[in-house]
Amino acid sequence: MWIFGWKGPSGFSARSTAEEVTQGIDGTGLTAIVTGASSGLGLETTRVLALHCVHVIMAVRNTEAGRDVRTAILKEIPTANINVMELDLSSMASVRKFASEYNSSGLPLNILINNAGVMATPFMLSQDNIELQFATNHLGHFLLTNLLLETMKKTSRESKKEGRIVNLSSEAHRFAYSEGIRFDKINDESGYNSIYAYGQSKLANILHANELTKHLKEFSTCNR
Ligand SMILES: NC(=O)c1ccc[n+]([C@@H]2O[C@H](COP(=O)([O-])OP(=O)(O)OC[C@H]3O[C@@H](n4cnc5c(N)ncnc54)[C@H](OP(=O)(O)O)[C@@H]3O)[C@@H](O)[C@H]2O)c1
Repeated sequence: MWIFGWKGPSGFSARSTAEEVTQGIDGTGLTAIVTGASSGLGLETTRVLALHCVHVIMAVRNTEAGRDVRTAILKEIPTANINVMELDLSSMASVRKFASEYNSSGLPLNILINNAGVMATPFMLSQDNIELQFATNHLGHFLLTNLLLETMKKTSRESKKEGRIVNLSSEAHRFAYSEGIRFDKINDESGYNSIYAYGQSKLANILHANELTKHLKEFSTCNR
């Protein structure tokens, strides 16, 4: 479709590859977490960040798959610095465990890429009894971000480099329920529509990013 070739103000289009977008960037000294890094966009994000010398922590629910991906990337980029850590975003206990281990590891954190996601699943509840798409795509990432924020702020202060938090949303945020986010009906199976519920979770990703932007602008103003 013509729209995929249309270039935005950045000079890139939907056809641009991750390698094209990052050409000339040196990520030496930066550390990034990529959620859902064992396949799809997360895998390619991991590979290209590693190509640019970023230390990448693959946060994955299937660590065996994560280690296989790490091995494959190392074959292509022998200098890649990649670690694999277990994270199941549909479980708040798993998110807390991951964040606690990460925060006590002493590693810095410059970039958090909230990429993992499930799409249009039949109605299911997470381990915490919350509708699965909302729990995985939004709540898990919301909690993860909050729990890692102090480490990100500390890294930013010490390195004097602004951090980056990226929430992978989707055009599907336009196709949420008519009332947007159904705060009082998140777990209502009778009115569940898998596409609208996906859109609802992707809308939440955007609202989360907007709110973080406001919050972190205040932080950067206060820390100049
Ligand atoms: N591809 C597109 O065209 C497109 C368009 C718009 C937005 N997006 C967004 O981009 C992101 C990546 O999409 P993708 O196409 O690369 O999807 P994908 O290939 O299906 O990969 C999704 C990743 O998320 C992981 N994941 C799922 N549930 C998880 C959980 N509970 N805890 C931890 N990880 C979990 C999966 O792990 P497993 O391998 O273990 O299942 C997988 O690695 C998603 O947020 C999606 O909404 C994609």
